[in-house]
Amino acid sequence: MEETAIPERVSTGISGLDEMLKGGYFKGTANVVSGKSGTGKTIFGSQFIYEGAKNGEKVMCIITSEESKSIVREMKASFDWDFKKLEDDGLLSFVDITDPGLRLQKSVEIAPSELIKSFKKLIESKLDEVQPQRVFIDSIEALFLAIESNYKLRTLIDDVFGVLRSREVTSVISVGKMFDLDAMVEYGADSVIKLERVRVGNNLQRTIFVMKLRGSSTINEVRVLNISDNGMSVLAQSPYLE
Ligand SMILES: Nc1ncnc2c1ncn2[C@@H]1O[C@H](COP(=O)(O)OP(=O)(O)OP(=O)(O)O)[C@@H](O)[C@H]1O
Ligand SMILES: [Mg+2]
Repeated sequence: MEETAIPERVSTGISGLDEMLKGGYFKGTANVVSGKSGTGKTIFGSQFIYEGAKNGEKVMCIITSEESKSIVREMKASFDWDFKKLEDDGLLSFVDITDPGLRLQKSVEIAPSELIKSFKKLIESKLDEVQPQRVFIDSIEALFLAIESNYKLRTLIDDVFGVLRSREVTSVISVGKMFDLDAMVEYGADSVIKLERVRVGNNLQRTIFVMKLRGSSTINEVRVLNISDNGMSVLAQSPYLE
């Protein structure tokens, strides 16, 4: 007889956030982190994969808009996290737009949906090759900006999320606020976390809340998000407003 196992949870590596999620992400799910520019999406995802790599897991970082080197530089400068060493140790691998598998496709004029298809294939082959336990995609909208039809967009998003889920990898996917792309991406995700910066008098405060987590209750509060030299953490307090 088959047992109905309790789904396994994966720690986000962000202090205070697992509590908001009642135990972390579900293993093998596609999780979106959404917010405007500068709200902390890249740090969030980086900390998620760093947590895995620190514990000896294989992790992967997929970067759609710039070369992987800038994230290595930023994480070293901000928090002294040595992504280069993790890469050298074989724990962290990068996929970015300079990958030869993609450049070939980009050199000829092809339809955006074809580019996404080839990107999807590239991700598939890298996942099969590396078999990571955690993946961070930063960011997804760069891939989908050129798609005009909403129907097509939904299908492509579902495709990419499907690839991740079928490999049983726990993933974090960042999305910015461009047009209504973030809403489209959020529909397809197993969880959505929103990052914001709010103005309190003359100060800016970072906030975080869980918009959804399929299959679980959550703490339904907006909480203060802190970024310091030790990385990102969630405080057990709500922002003070007026
Ligand atoms: N050590 C640190 N202490 C405090 N804040 C920091 C530190 N390092 C970086 N930050 C802040 O984190 C912010 C950048 O966060 P991040 O790059 O994750 O944002 P993002 O949401 O990915 O933005 P974008 O959409 O532009 O890529 C910066 O505004 C920076 O001030
Ligand atoms: Mg970023």
